[in-house]
Amino acid sequence: MVYDYVIIGTGIAGLNAARLIPKDKKVLVLCKKSTWDCNTFWAQGGIASAVDESDIPSHIQDTLTAGVDHNDKQAVELLSKKSQDAVKSLIDSGLEFDLNDKGELAFTKEAAHSRNRILHADGDATGRMMHMFLLEQCHHQIVTDAVVNDLLIQDDICYGVQYFTSETEQTVAYAHNTIIASGGVGSIYRYHTNSTAIAGEIQGIISEKGLALKDMEMMQFHPTVVKGTHFARKPLLSEALRGEGAHIVDDHGNRFLFAYHKDGELAPRDVVSRSIFDYHQKTGTSVYLSFENFEKPFFKKRFPNIYANLKDLGYDLPFERVPISPAFHYSMGGIETSLDGKVKGMKNLYAVGEAACTGVHGANRLASNSLLEGLVFSQLAIEDTLKNDFKISYENYTNDIKSYIRNQGIDKNIKNNLRKIMWDNVAIVRNPSKLEAALNQIEKYLEEDVGRLLFLRLLTAKSILKSALKRKESLGAHYIKEN
Ligand code: SIN
Repeated sequence: MVYDYVIIGTGIAGLNAARLIPKDKKVLVLCKKSTWDCNTFWAQGGIASAVDESDIPSHIQDTLTAGVDHNDKQAVELLSKKSQDAVKSLIDSGLEFDLNDKGELAFTKEAAHSRNRILHADGDATGRMMHMFLLEQCHHQIVTDAVVNDLLIQDDICYGVQYFTSETEQTVAYAHNTIIASGGVGSIYRYHTNSTAIAGEIQGIISEKGLALKDMEMMQFHPTVVKGTHFARKPLLSEALRGEGAHIVDDHGNRFLFAYHKDGELAPRDVVSRSIFDYHQKTGTSVYLSFENFEKPFFKKRFPNIYANLKDLGYDLPFERVPISPAFHYSMGGIETSLDGKVKGMKNLYAVGEAACTGVHGANRLASNSLLEGLVFSQLAIEDTLKNDFKISYENYTNDIKSYIRNQGIDKNIKNNLRKIMWDNVAIVRNPSKLEAALNQIEKYLEEDVGRLLFLRLLTAKSILKSALKRKESLGAHYIKEN
């Protein structure tokens, strides 16, 4: 059987795509682990939207300024112009964002936004609320524990996907349209804020097929994660906290960020992360997020989940400050697409959300533009598929269907080394000779007899390192220091 659509991923981009596909189409949604193992589920702060028509130019400008003008301006314009309708479509379908005392949508502020334009839900659980809502809306088949290991690509047509259904079994699904919504690369870094299911394997397949990845060196580090927990996935302290008055301070309570940027805590994310890193290196002082401006009742109501999570970790907010550090958060780069979400050079293969590089985020993503990107570009992709009505004939796919080995005994060690290599060398500050050494090591690992999934992660890491080496000057999140 041939599906009308295969969608890889159940974050906001994949589920919104599924929501917009007519019910009579045959759709298969593949999910690597369980449905909530995606970055959308963990998104706290919110979703950015132009507040009204008059706000569109400044939303565009803020996005370009944060992205250091490395953005695709047309993509940014599209994002902002479509933002109100995209959000309204969800509200009309029943999604509830938080309201202010007057019963109007409550917009908050985050760093590098020139005004309040971030919608949120259940205080600080915006991603989870959106994710649950979109899951409820999904009337198509979702298969969990389906780990994609290949795309069936021949010439400029994608015939579908191949995926593991268990440690040893794999199957093929043919489709007229394939939509990649598999997220970024978080788990190839040692410390991150991402779902542990997100590890960039599909970007590896794209690289293997010789298709275009773009801006792969542009990796965003979130400035404020809780320091001192044991796991690779670090608890996030949303940027909305700073938007509403939390301060970044040193051991002595000094708000040192103003020495780096006039906007202090509300400077673009790359600047804040880099400044924390630099200050800590130069002074040795610890860095904290301080909530002294908040009254407890307000804090508990506005940030109920952060309040509860931090209580579990032993912090009494807003009275105690929390030690923080930056951690990997978001991949601005990804699979290069056109403005309708189509993968460059392909007829019926799409990439949306964090997996894609539409060019919207440039060299540093503006806070809360990612959920919006997932919504807007998944809609554009589905509109394009419905207009094109592309059909494959699966008999025309004559390439081998390969039988892959999912994991090998040596994988665990190499996987851990890979995460360390990426964290040490392709993080906030980069050094060309260290990048070169890291690339050499990754290339050596690629010659080993590793399992398919690690092989794909290594290919993704290689493309990040190669892009980082290619960009000789610092730009946004790609910051070079010779020594
Ligand atoms: C946050 O809540 O700080 C994350 C928002 C984002 O990554 O856009």
